[in-house]
Parts: sequence; structure tokens; C-alpha cells
Amino acid sequence: MRITLSLAVLTAAVSSARAFHQGFNYGAFFTDNSPKMQSDFEAEFKTAQNLEGAPATGFNSARLYTMIQWGTATAPISAIPAAIATNTTLLLGIWCSAGASAVTNELAALQTAIATHGPAFTDLVVGIAVGSEDLYRASPTGRAHDPSAAGLGADVLVGYINQVREAVRGTPLGGVPVGHVDTWSEWVMPGNRRVVEAVDFVGMDAYSYWEGGVVNGVEEGRLLFGQAMESTVGVAVGGKGGKGGEGRRKPVWVTETGFPVSGKTVNEAVPSAENARRFWRDVGCGLFGKVDVWWYTLRDAGKGTPEPSFGIVGEGLGKPLFDLSCGEAKGTDGDDEACDAE
Ligand SMILES: *[C@@H]1O[C@H](CO)[C@@H](O)[C@H](O)[C@H]1NC(C)=O
Repeated sequence: MRITLSLAVLTAAVSSARAFHQGFNYGAFFTDNSPKMQSDFEAEFKTAQNLEGAPATGFNSARLYTMIQWGTATAPISAIPAAIATNTTLLLGIWCSAGASAVTNELAALQTAIATHGPAFTDLVVGIAVGSEDLYRASPTGRAHDPSAAGLGADVLVGYINQVREAVRGTPLGGVPVGHVDTWSEWVMPGNRRVVEAVDFVGMDAYSYWEGGVVNGVEEGRLLFGQAMESTVGVAVGGKGGKGGEGRRKPVWVTETGFPVSGKTVNEAVPSAENARRFWRDVGCGLFGKVDVWWYTLRDAGKGTPEPSFGIVGEGLGKPLFDLSCGEAKGTDGDDEACDAE
């Protein structure tokens, strides 16, 4: 129970009086590279809000990776009108790894969205994440995983963070927190300290599934997630960037975590609906309603199933593939120790 206690203490440490944002991550395109249209995003957002058996705190926030409608140069992503139609809050994403001109296009799309939709859009925005796992992709681990994937160093990334701050200054998004999303192992690197200093929030991605260098069976999920969170909370303090200045503790938002329902085994982590259920229960149920969380994910399988697949509703938008309840002792695998986190 020591780990359980530690998660509870951590969530208390990062908690404040406001309600927490809770939702999923939403890509801009389907597995076959075709773009998601407004109707596709609307269907996903409505499914997220009405998930059978899910905790009553609800899943009504969407984290995006890009401002640009897939396949266009600068048209705003159609997730925006879909969010307006479904009252879904937005953690916006500015895709940065494609370089300076792509960032300029991202900002053009953002400005167009502000001009087109006004407060109906801007009132839904809870944060702007500048980049996603760029530091990880540029790291030795990231390069070993995928040598072709483009990443960014800390200096370039901080430049983009400051560019985005300038771009939203004086707009209705001028007061919205600006941050970055990366893997927990990058946030704790001393060489990335300047990124911590530049942000208003630390977006943390943590997957025990991918931690192939340690004992990482799903039964270790809570322990490994707790260690990732504790390490990241430990470094998320100070710097001149953002509001509050030196010594300010920065909020850690859980921007991605989850466990695959299918795909290859990584060390001891075996994808299955049962194991995804266990991770949801052991990790998710301890977080929902207590910190800001964007789970990975509602649906990553559409027009084809990726390998591994983390989607809790599979190809269609039907019933969840596993039990999403966080109540007492109703786990599918009979482990009653589950949701007694507090
Ligand atoms: C939208 O959701 C928020 C909570 O996130 C709620 O306070 C508000 O009343 C909702 N607005 C509409 C129009 O349903």
C-alpha cells in the first residue's frame, strides 16, 4: 500500500480547488492517413462524454497535436468546431518538429480559428502545448526507437515556446497557460532544464509499457507511473519563464498514459484488454478527478488498427473493450485491491 499512499500524496501536492480537466488525446488523421473531418471529431467527442461505466467525473476535454486540418497548409483543424458543438474543452497542440515554417503555419491556423470562432472557441481552451515529445525523439533512446523521426533540442524548443507566447499576446488566449509535452524521462534530464524554466505547465507522458529496460509487467504499472510522476513533480519548479518567476512550482499535467489492448509484448508488458483494464484501474482511477489527465486513448484504430493499439473503443465507436468503472472491487480480474487508492 506504500505506493498507493504515495500517489495519493502526490495528487494532493499538485491539487488545487478547481475542477480538473479530463479527456483523451485526439490525432488529426486516421490510421490510413485520411483526415478526420468535423463529423469524425464530433462522433469521438460524444463517445468520450458517454462512455459506458466510466467515472462520473466525465471525459470532456480533448488534447490536440496540431492546429492544422490534416492535408491542408494552414486551415484550422476541424476538431475546433466539433469541440464547440459538443462543449469539449481543448488542450491545443502546436506541432514543432517539422521546423520553423511549419510552426508559422500552425500559428496562422490558430489566428484564423480565433478570428473565425471568437469566444466560442477561446473560452474552451485550457492550455497550449508547444511541441509533443520533440526532446524524446531527438534523444538517444528516441533515435534508437525510430531513427527517421524528427525531434528538437531544448534551445530550439524554447525559441518556439517564446514565439507562441508572443503570437497569443493581446489575443483572447493571452492568459492561457503555455507549456510543452514530453516523456517524463526527458523532463528530468538536466540538459532540458531550460524547457522547464520556459513553461507554465509540464505535460508529462508516461508509459510503463514502453519501459522495456525495467521490470514492466502491467502489475508494475502503478509503481512505475508513481515514480515517473514523483520524478517529474520534483523537477517542475522555478525559472524565469511564465508567470510567478523563480521558485514557483509548475503544475504537472498527465498528457498521455495508457496501456495497449493489442500489439507486441515489450519486455514483460503484454497488451490485452484485461491488462489495459488493470492499468486503467491501477493508474487512471487514482488520477481521475484529482489531476489534469488526457488518457491515451479513446480511439487510435480507425480505418485500420495500429500496432500496438491503445484505443479503448477499438475501430468503431461502440462499447468500450474493457470495464471502465472505478468503483469498489468490481475488477474483471478479481483483484480487489484495485480502487481503494484513497
Ligand atoms: C459546458 O461545460 C461546462 C463544464 O465544463 C459547463 O459549466 C457549462 O455549463 C457547459 N455549457 C453548455 C452550453 O452546456
